[in-house]
Amino acid sequence: MISSDLSPYLAGLAVVATAAYWLNSQRPNLRSIPAMGPTGLFSSYVGAYDYLRNAPKIVQEGYKKYKSSVFRVPYYDKWVVVVSSSQLVNDLRQSRDEDLATVPAFSQLFAAPWTLGSGFTDHNYHIKVIQSPLTRSIAARFTDIRDEVAAAFEDEVKLPGDDWVAVPALAMVLRVISRASNRLFVGLPLCRDPDYQMLTVKFAMGVMEGAKKINLFPHFLKPLIGPWLTNLPRDLEHAKKHLVPIIEERLRLEEEHGPNWAERPSDLISWLLEYAKGEERTPHMLTQRMLMVNFAAIHTTANSFTQALFHLAQGPEYVEPLREELEAAVAEEGWTKSAMSKCIKLDSFLRESQRYNGTSAVNMNRMVDNPNGFTFSDGTHVPHGTFVVAATYATHHDGENYENPNEFDGFRFAKMRGKDEDQGSIKFQMVAPDAKYLSFGFGRHACPGRFFAVNELKLMLAYVLQHYDVRLEGPRPPTEWFGTLAAANHSAKVEFRKRQT
Ligand code: HEM
Ligand SMILES: *[C@@H]1O[C@H](CO)[C@@H](O)[C@H](O)[C@H]1NC(C)=O
Ligand SMILES: *[C@@H]1O[C@H](CO)[C@@H](O)[C@H](O)[C@H]1NC(C)=O
Repeated sequence: MISSDLSPYLAGLAVVATAAYWLNSQRPNLRSIPAMGPTGLFSSYVGAYDYLRNAPKIVQEGYKKYKSSVFRVPYYDKWVVVVSSSQLVNDLRQSRDEDLATVPAFSQLFAAPWTLGSGFTDHNYHIKVIQSPLTRSIAARFTDIRDEVAAAFEDEVKLPGDDWVAVPALAMVLRVISRASNRLFVGLPLCRDPDYQMLTVKFAMGVMEGAKKINLFPHFLKPLIGPWLTNLPRDLEHAKKHLVPIIEERLRLEEEHGPNWAERPSDLISWLLEYAKGEERTPHMLTQRMLMVNFAAIHTTANSFTQALFHLAQGPEYVEPLREELEAAVAEEGWTKSAMSKCIKLDSFLRESQRYNGTSAVNMNRMVDNPNGFTFSDGTHVPHGTFVVAATYATHHDGENYENPNEFDGFRFAKMRGKDEDQGSIKFQMVAPDAKYLSFGFGRHACPGRFFAVNELKLMLAYVLQHYDVRLEGPRPPTEWFGTLAAANHSAKVEFRKRQT
């Protein structure tokens, strides 16, 4: 006999079981794909718990075990299929959007409806804006961006004479990148406004924090809890205070003088207005779009630079060769984009840092959008609705792809450029993704902001090399993992001193 006090619990259990059964029946059927961890109705949640804590390790194990094929890993809200070879990465790269779509995949990854706003899934014209006018403007705006990097470091790193000063690295880097990026996005004086700067940083980090929490819930609960776990409405109102007056003024000037009026600023607001259509042209939607681009630009670049700064502080042997190269390039070309292109070692150091300590264990998020599913070139078939990714971290630490993959070799790619006669000059530069280097994705959807990001990263590292000596207080601060997402340690400090030699 069951005692009557237990009945509420049993009733509760029955509800949970029914919900779990129903949830499972809503998921794509992936029974034929080998799974990392248990696959039972309830036990798969134990697997998801384990995965949240050990994602890079589990993906790497699967990558080795199912080499040249696919396997699946459990998230709280879905199973995700991971591809394990260059051939299959090429399938992702070459696939059409009708078969493997990025928008619904990114939308889930960032819990976009709640963290980034409705505009994210409806329109993505900002990608074209970044690919074309923004990227084309880098050379012309180079001096401005360099000026902002310099001014930002001067404000952030207050040197006490010749002594060392310890600076919380990630927080400082986030503010420098917000300023440098927004010098291009909105120009002076707004890019230096402390309130605007704080908002852009807070928003960029807030999207990731919100997404991490929201994605712990099953899909059908997300619309209920999503609004409670995001700062979007508040941040959007805050951003509008800064941006709406500027946007309204631009719309008015365009109305008066046509789209290409004489003194139109060369900034993100102008470029967005070139491409935005219909409902996207309201100050509200344009502010949302400005925040989206700030998010895409700030959190990734800041993690990448902080990791590189840790590598530099940890590897004093790199400092002299990097300074020599930089000074020679600047002597020849002045402070220009082409001087930066000549800094092959600097480029290699940043690329290696991103290979070794990237921002995510998996990249190239795609969702199967074809109602008939998708068939990989090795014959593996996955149904409609399946989430597919490439194993970035495992690919970057695969001995078949890199000699001594677990060793940080700052000039690895500079040496590879030296060896490859034909393509050496471009093939291994940081902006060039390939099947073995997936930090920016690969193919048509590869990060459109990478040309700007790499330029900014180089300018920042160049500024540090030119003005400071850096060192770490202790051992290299461990990366903070949340599932597959990696973030540079958020409290670690780097010590700066006035350059001595
Ligand atoms: C070091 C810094 C950065 C890293 C590591 C990075 C990484 C990535 C990755 C992995 C993707 C997905 C590619 C794929 O799925 O194939 C991506 C997409 C994207 N990135 Fe970046 N990114 C960086 C900087 C930037 C910047 C500065 C911007 C804007 C100015 C930007 C804007 C975007 C946009 C709009 C997309 C979506 C592209 C699409 O769906 O076609 N990123 N990025
Ligand atoms: C960064 O490098 C350390 C070794 O210094 C390694 O333990 C860690 O997993 C790496 N993190 C990422 C994000 O690749
Ligand atoms: C970050 O680094 C600091 C000091 O280097 C260390 O005390 C702390 O435990 C690290 N945080 C994480 C989450 O690893």
